[in-house]
Amino acid sequence: MDDPSFSYTVDTIPIVGSSGLLSSYRDALGFLANAPTLIQQGYDEHHGHQGVFRVARLFRWEYVVCGPKLVKEVGAAPDHVLSFHAGVQEVFQLRHVIGAAISDNPYHQHTIRTSLTRNLHTCFPEVRDEIICAFNDVLQVQSSDWKTLPVLPTMMAVVARVSNRIFVGLPLCRNKTYLQNNVQFAIDVFRSGQRIALFPAFLRPLVARLITSKNKSFATAVKLLGPTIEERLLKEREMGPDWPGKSNDLISWLLDTAEGEERTVPALVLRVLAINFAAIHTSSMAFTHALFDLATHPEYLRPMREEVELVVKKEGWSKAALNNMVKVDSFLRESQRLNNGAASVMHRKVVAKEGFSFSDGTILAYLQAANFDHPTKFDGFRFAQERANHMAQHERDPLASQDIFKRQMISTAVDHLPFGTGKHACPGRFFAATELKAMMAHLVVNYDIRAEVEGVRPLDAVFGTRITPNPAGKVYFRKRMD
Ligand code: HEM
Repeated sequence: MDDPSFSYTVDTIPIVGSSGLLSSYRDALGFLANAPTLIQQGYDEHHGHQGVFRVARLFRWEYVVCGPKLVKEVGAAPDHVLSFHAGVQEVFQLRHVIGAAISDNPYHQHTIRTSLTRNLHTCFPEVRDEIICAFNDVLQVQSSDWKTLPVLPTMMAVVARVSNRIFVGLPLCRNKTYLQNNVQFAIDVFRSGQRIALFPAFLRPLVARLITSKNKSFATAVKLLGPTIEERLLKEREMGPDWPGKSNDLISWLLDTAEGEERTVPALVLRVLAINFAAIHTSSMAFTHALFDLATHPEYLRPMREEVELVVKKEGWSKAALNNMVKVDSFLRESQRLNNGAASVMHRKVVAKEGFSFSDGTILAYLQAANFDHPTKFDGFRFAQERANHMAQHERDPLASQDIFKRQMISTAVDHLPFGTGKHACPGRFFAATELKAMMAHLVVNYDIRAEVEGVRPLDAVFGTRITPNPAGKVYFRKRMD
């Protein structure tokens, strides 16, 4: 944007595909099946020039911004110019699939960013305990005989349980109906949001009523979670906000912030359901991808196993010990780098009239791996190696050695966007990284895994810009042999 000859007007932004009225509708339909290819084509053609191109969607143009410089500006842009919430609404139709109360008052983001993150050390023993129990109960792998499991549904069940240990605590986090309801809700929100977006705006409320199962999920959640929240509200009324024996979980942290009509059973139940949506789908997809990568590249299992055993021998199982599992961290980050969950991320809508010179539209930023050596190659320990090199170079410079943290799973950068970047970067990433690292560490020291077909990674499923790990993809598990 420093280039004075470059002006962002709709007319000057190159199109990938056709510009004609009918042909662009045809392209918009084609985009549903071919978004990753079209966006890659746009990137290859335009990233070296002005770094912006557009593709036709059914009722709008979508502008794609590439390259670190522009991505950084998108991440830093104020909400009254590039709106995160309007962008998310456009893509996920949250108002229709979850409700306006959540999208118009997202106070839970603050709770996640502050209380949840701060409590990760204290709550780690519960996370660890739930991982052990959930792997045993859900995987049911008890012997050295190989057993195949569909990875995505299995890991969704594990992630839902581990997350809810911190969200709502025992015994509800092990209640099968409660967990299944949260998993189903998360799947429905993703699916129905994408489908609703295929209709013109005036039809969306009607379509939403017909295709979402929001009301059913909400009723089940009220039945199962409602009594716990009712009891917490009652205790607060009787004994004040810091009553003795108050649980250290997400319900309590939400109650610390919620005001007015948000302090009711239905409002809090919906809030917990919405947080489950944000947490379950994303984390279980990331872990599924990591398992597909591990099964396809089994040579990474032993070094990670050795690292975890060494760290645990010295420090035991703790949140701090996870920080020293550099190979596990690197492996997960590399898997996220190559399997971003979407062909484009960081959806924004231009809401200011003077805006970015875009009159309207969603701005997207596309993750491209070009800043890395052999960008398309899976190199599980690439970031661990970078950290080791950096440490060796800056041995005597403590300030420069801080830079190694920039290659950790939780660190956001303009060349690594699975969690976004800038002010709306995922506030749940600290929790997600703790949970996923602890799960991977547990898995490598307790199980052997291998691909269903040696060297073959199950193909991803594509719908529009969303890229999901193959929901039917399987992996073999057995109790570790040595
Ligand atoms: C591997 C797991 C996860 C991935 C890949 C992920 C990814 C993302 C991304 C890409 C964004 C949007 C960033 C942007 O547009 O700039 C986001 C936002 C968000 N995520 Fe996550 N997420 C994950 C886990 C979680 C978890 C576990 C939680 C909750 C505990 C969570 C809660 C949220 C919330 C509330 C937002 C909205 C932030 C805002 O409005 O400022 N996420 N996440």
